Amino acid sequence: MTDPRPKQGKSVFIRTYGCQMNVYDSERMAGLLKPLGYGLADKPEGADLVILNTCHIREKAAEKVYSELGRLKRLKADKAKTGGEMKIAVAGCVAQAEGPEIAARAPQVDMVVGPQAYHRLPELIAKAARERGDVLDTDFAVEEKFDRLAAREAAGPSAFLTVQEGCDKFCTFCVVPYTRGAEVSRNVDAIVAEARSLAAQGVREITLIGQNVNAWASAPPAGVSGDQWGLGELCRHLAKIDGIERIRFTTSHPRDMDDGLIAALAEEEKLMPYLHLPVQAGSDKILKAMNRGHNGEHYVRLIERIRAARPDIALSGDFIVGFPGETNEDFEATLALVEEVGYASAYSFKYSRRPGTPGAAMGKQVAEDEKDARLARLQSLLESQRQAFNAAQIGAELPVLFEKPGRNEGQLVGRSPYLQSVHVRAPHSLLGKIVKVKIEDVTPNALAGALSSKEEAAA
Ligand code: 5AD
Ligand code: SF4
Repeated sequence: MTDPRPKQGKSVFIRTYGCQMNVYDSERMAGLLKPLGYGLADKPEGADLVILNTCHIREKAAEKVYSELGRLKRLKADKAKTGGEMKIAVAGCVAQAEGPEIAARAPQVDMVVGPQAYHRLPELIAKAARERGDVLDTDFAVEEKFDRLAAREAAGPSAFLTVQEGCDKFCTFCVVPYTRGAEVSRNVDAIVAEARSLAAQGVREITLIGQNVNAWASAPPAGVSGDQWGLGELCRHLAKIDGIERIRFTTSHPRDMDDGLIAALAEEEKLMPYLHLPVQAGSDKILKAMNRGHNGEHYVRLIERIRAARPDIALSGDFIVGFPGETNEDFEATLALVEEVGYASAYSFKYSRRPGTPGAAMGKQVAEDEKDARLARLQSLLESQRQAFNAAQIGAELPVLFEKPGRNEGQLVGRSPYLQSVHVRAPHSLLGKIVKVKIEDVTPNALAGALSSKEEAAA
């Protein structure tokens, strides 16, 4: 049998598209390959293995993969000319959704591996070395994947931690329930073990991630009586780990924002006052057609309850314009909802027709130029809210977690509780620490501030 272990000194280049879950998965793939002798390359040229960890959420994201594969085909040929070999793997949601199509459209691809099968990458690499032609693995078996992944190395003071995967909500525009499968929660012990190991490596902030993170539910850990835990209990439990100073979670669904989680936001100081709670649209007719399971009024009342529980909370959201059947009046309802709620930041997209989803087959598709016009109006409103939120921080003292050196000498960059980047003149010794910063200025994409004199004296 071929020895799957390459000689020391092989290199893997991983390109990540899409959401935080893919960022997490890429990090895990790098960790899996390290014991096999693969070091991380910072460019695809000359790499022994190139992995594209792909996103299928919108057509543009999926198409990017095929253009990148065209470029890789040339790099693979260049490497072959010098007697070397470059293997190409497509991972992530395009792999899941279009596995056989990738094989047909891009014969330069050696491996296609779905998001629930990447723990088998070492076996696939060995198989691809033995066999010509594609090796395809797009099975669904989430628990097995997590069982098989070893402890991971932290890359900085802030880390993602997957607690939940998949989605049962079936919004009519969305491919996620098909690419990521049904909602599955990891158990408390596995999550705690990963969080402890991260904390021991200097991680101060964990972001619990899941496609529907607040649908997380699991039995309490061994020795603790009581019913199923929800995300609120999990957050309170993780807050007890020494070293973990900040906890975030994303992405939440309005339908799963239960009282336990709202109470945890109110009472647990380590939970950051920032919540990503997508609503997608403001019109009840469109929300119904999207199968969101709530109307605009329900969402606005929910935000009121959350704000009453945690007055300093800032909100972020996702929006889609031009869903089938969306009239100008429906779109105005989205603008009105944005005005009413007020967002600190947001993502907004033109509706993209995804094959196999109910939305793709709906009548009254909205013309592309109409979508462009609506997106521009929505984005200008959201941007003005974001700028106003940032400007309102001037003069405030915010705790900042320093994550990396800044571009200028003597400068560090960190994050405020609201995920804003903050640039500060500060010594290296403060990397990985949470320090009070007086905010003095805002630029379009960041805040700038100075250490308070007490912090400066201590540094
Ligand atoms: N078209 C446009 N945006 C989409 N999203 C999901 N599916 C689509 C689609 N077909 C957006 C939603 C979701 C975010 C991750 O991507 O706003 O919350
Ligand atoms: Fe997609 Fe809706 Fe599930 Fe979010 S809740 S992943 S938008 S189907």
